[in-house]
Amino acid sequence: MKVLVTGGAGYIGSHVVRQLLLRGDDVLVLDNLVNGHREAVGVARLEVMDLSDNAGLKRLMKAFQPEAVIHFAAFIEVGESVRNPLKYYQNNTANGFSLLAACQEAGIRKFIFSSTAAVYGTPKAVPIPETASLAPINPYGFSKLFVEQALRDLAAASDFRYVALRYFNAAGADPSGEIGESHKPESHLIPLVLQAASGERKDISIFGTDYPTPDGTCVRDYVHVNDLADAHLKALDYLKDGGESRVFNCGYGHGYSVREVLDAVKRMTGKDFSVVEAPPRTGDPAELVADSRLLTEILKWKPQFDNLNAIIETVWNWELNRRY
Ligand SMILES: NC(=O)c1ccc[n+]([C@@H]2O[C@H](COP(=O)([O-])OP(=O)(O)OC[C@H]3O[C@@H](n4cnc5c(N)ncnc54)[C@H](O)[C@@H]3O)[C@@H](O)[C@H]2O)c1
Repeated sequence: MKVLVTGGAGYIGSHVVRQLLLRGDDVLVLDNLVNGHREAVGVARLEVMDLSDNAGLKRLMKAFQPEAVIHFAAFIEVGESVRNPLKYYQNNTANGFSLLAACQEAGIRKFIFSSTAAVYGTPKAVPIPETASLAPINPYGFSKLFVEQALRDLAAASDFRYVALRYFNAAGADPSGEIGESHKPESHLIPLVLQAASGERKDISIFGTDYPTPDGTCVRDYVHVNDLADAHLKALDYLKDGGESRVFNCGYGHGYSVREVLDAVKRMTGKDFSVVEAPPRTGDPAELVADSRLLTEILKWKPQFDNLNAIIETVWNWELNRRY
């Protein structure tokens, strides 16, 4: 299939691009490289372009004529979205709308959207089903929810169909060690802990030790990026087979606490590092765990890396031989 991947030079996008290429899809990556890496796209074609470039988008759609679009391009820092909300509404929401308009004009009817567990805000219960109330607690979550709403409305008004994947905590790296997570600044726990293990970072902070969780630290559902990538391929096939528009949670349905992650990294790497206990961050829910039964039942998703050690091993492999 001919697939346009926005943000395909970023962390999750590059893992999806790699799997699409492996199965023989024709892929074009659109990325402005603001947070992405040219090396991450491998042999895929890369168009360095900003999503806000309407004329460029139009030209690209006409030249490439994709059958489907997978849309990753966005800003991803929750804290920054609180400090600078318009930056997020501009890039994640307004540019998302521009892309949808370009798709509509080009007659593209299959669309996969990177949504987030942040659309749920602080959940009333875990695991969180897709039907839970949507109540973001930061501009990042709202910036994504607005796109989800536009997708719903567009699908209701036309024969456009979409899958929105609400990722929980993406983690891990491709076992080849050729691509992995490289955010600057890095804010995700597992790469940060491994950077502490490798000596690149002097310590690691635990934000909050008094949460109502078994060991008092926050629990998150870490989903390996290759399993996440596989969910995108399955979503594409689902739309190709005529599947109706749907939203799916992407997670394993169980989580690990911050302390469990730290202990697992120390065990696996054999390295010790200092841990600083810091106050909780505002808006950090105690536990975020996906109810992902729909993904397994409807998309027949079969995760291969549902194991914290497997996730850590692939990140360690990446951190030790990092290419970008
Ligand atoms: N990483 C996670 O745990 C997580 C969790 C939930 C949702 N998501 C969503 O998944 C998507 C990908 O996340 P990621 O971790 O790979 O982020 P990333 O920053 O690594 O990748 C995003 C890519 O989009 C590109 N980009 C951003 N704005 C652009 C623009 N205006 N024009 C062209 N390119 C642009 C960046 O250069 C980057 O390569 C995002 O939409 C994010 O909101 C990520």
